[in-house]
Amino acid sequence: MKVHIIGGGNLGVSIALGIAKFSPENQVTVTRRNTASILYLEALGITVSTDNKYQIQDADIIILTIKPYQVDTVLAEILPVIGSKIIASAVSGLSIENLQNKIGETNSAIRIMPNIASQFGASATCIAFHEKNKDKAQSVVALFQDLGTAPIIDEKLMDAATVLAASGTAFALRYIRASMQAGIEIGFDWQTALAISAQTVKGAAEMLLEEKGHPEQLIDRVTTPQGCTIAGLNEMEMHGFSSSLIRGIKTSLKQIKG
Ligand SMILES: NC(=O)c1ccc[n+]([C@@H]2O[C@H](COP(=O)([O-])OP(=O)(O)OC[C@H]3O[C@@H](n4cnc5c(N)ncnc54)[C@H](OP(=O)(O)O)[C@@H]3O)[C@@H](O)[C@H]2O)c1
Repeated sequence: MKVHIIGGGNLGVSIALGIAKFSPENQVTVTRRNTASILYLEALGITVSTDNKYQIQDADIIILTIKPYQVDTVLAEILPVIGSKIIASAVSGLSIENLQNKIGETNSAIRIMPNIASQFGASATCIAFHEKNKDKAQSVVALFQDLGTAPIIDEKLMDAATVLAASGTAFALRYIRASMQAGIEIGFDWQTALAISAQTVKGAAEMLLEEKGHPEQLIDRVTTPQGCTIAGLNEMEMHGFSSSLIRGIKTSLKQIKG
């Protein structure tokens, strides 16, 4: 497939890099107005352009990774030349209905919520579409399955997906930073503390994804009676570890919903 990404910023570039590495049979073009900072992508086989319409007629999927206020300008530019395309939008807050109205019935609106771990083939990309676009959406689902997992969700959960999967990246990183800071306090230099903290989170996540069990089942295998792990966990919970995360996620969702 030919994938045309409009908006070569944080997310657009991470998706382009992910496709180049984990879905290399697909060709990618990335556009933005000022391409100086992303010209290095060319060396990786990714086409870079300042022209949103560059070979867009050949694209199988157009991905929008621009800010909401840039959508109308970009669509006004490309709609007269695209004919009939699949348009996958990662634009926060832009509903399928709204996008479909903007692009007209000849094009198919698919809503996606990837995160920047796309670059490492490790995004959790939630995807939503209307029933009539079910067949067209399969190519988008397959593409993002190459870049991690790609669950199909009901569109009404898209804001929740934004918080859990996109903002969730920042929440997970903050956990790692806190763990690393504690690691320094108990004796490691920051580089070693970071390596241990990040790998430990990766290992825990891989075990969960592999075994598909509940986290408490794995926690039970780590917590020896009267041991240091349960003592630490209980102390953290006493200070609101789980509840502060849950409150933070619910606050982020409230913020999105306005
Ligand atoms: N970052 C994430 O983790 C994440 C996750 C999920 C969803 N999203 C959503 O994805 C969208 C992009 O987020 P981002 O963080 O990647 O933002 P960003 O880094 O600001 O990227 C947006 C890019 O769009 C380009 N752009 C602006 N106007 C354009 C135009 N007319 N034609 C072509 N390119 C244009 C900008 O570059 P120029 O100014 O050079 O044109 C910029 O590189 C947002 O709607 C965001 O809510 C982001």
